[in-house]
Amino acid sequence: MTDDVPALRTLPRHVGIIMDGNGRWARSRGLEREDGHERGADSVRTVVRAARKVGVEVLTLFAFSSQNWDRPHEEVFHLMELLRRYLVQERAEILDNGIRLTTVGDTKRLPEYVRAPLIELMAASAQNQGMTLCLALSYGGREMIAKAARDLCRAAIAGQVNPDDINPEVFESYLDSAKVLPPLDLLIRTSGEHRISNFFLWETAYAELYFTDKQWPEFGHDELVEALQAYSKRERRFGMTSEQVRGSGARGSKAAGLD
Ligand code: FPP
Repeated sequence: MTDDVPALRTLPRHVGIIMDGNGRWARSRGLEREDGHERGADSVRTVVRAARKVGVEVLTLFAFSSQNWDRPHEEVFHLMELLRRYLVQERAEILDNGIRLTTVGDTKRLPEYVRAPLIELMAASAQNQGMTLCLALSYGGREMIAKAARDLCRAAIAGQVNPDDINPEVFESYLDSAKVLPPLDLLIRTSGEHRISNFFLWETAYAELYFTDKQWPEFGHDELVEALQAYSKRERRFGMTSEQVRGSGARGSKAAGLD
């Protein structure tokens, strides 16, 4: 493992990660699923540091889905405890490194012992400009789309929006993710599964997808750099031709200004 960062042609502005495989990592070693989540939290620390160092502008981590509430009570409790511990223990590092913490998801469902340190750290870091760390908590892509549809219907009923004017841009402006985050450029999923699992459903329309067989506890600095290298070799066409894209410059990427 090395902290060296090779030169990359382009960097994604916004990287999302489906952190999968904690349970399988633990079970394959004769450990409890909870041990896998503990090691998964270590990977979160490593990958946040690596993303900040490399110059990723926004990192969204799918930490707890709307469906994860249906897991065994003990596992949900352990994940909530782990989140609380992460927020308390990482507070100083997040603030010292100029990281802005934000969330997407139905965070009102979180227990107060998670919500309180979350809200406090979001407020304390709100003016930071270094990198945005977004935790997707109690988050579901379908649920967020349904919420946007509800809000849009209310706006239409109130006469603020003409239904004839609703297009993808108008709809997107009602999505919580679009209110706080730039478009998603790269989606990474660990653990060898090839699906989106109700993460950023709308946002993945033109995101690059990167799948790795590594379990989340095995994913660190080098694995993030590998994913970024793969991204930098892709050509994003957004429905256009290669010639058009080469003439205009790719959207959603920035030249990697790495030191
Ligand atoms: C998926 O692995 C992982 C989760 C449902 C939770 C993700 C949580 C962490 C990485 C740790 C805590 C997070 C933070 C931000 C401190 P899985 O349990 O579905 O694994 P499996 O598919 O192998 O069973």
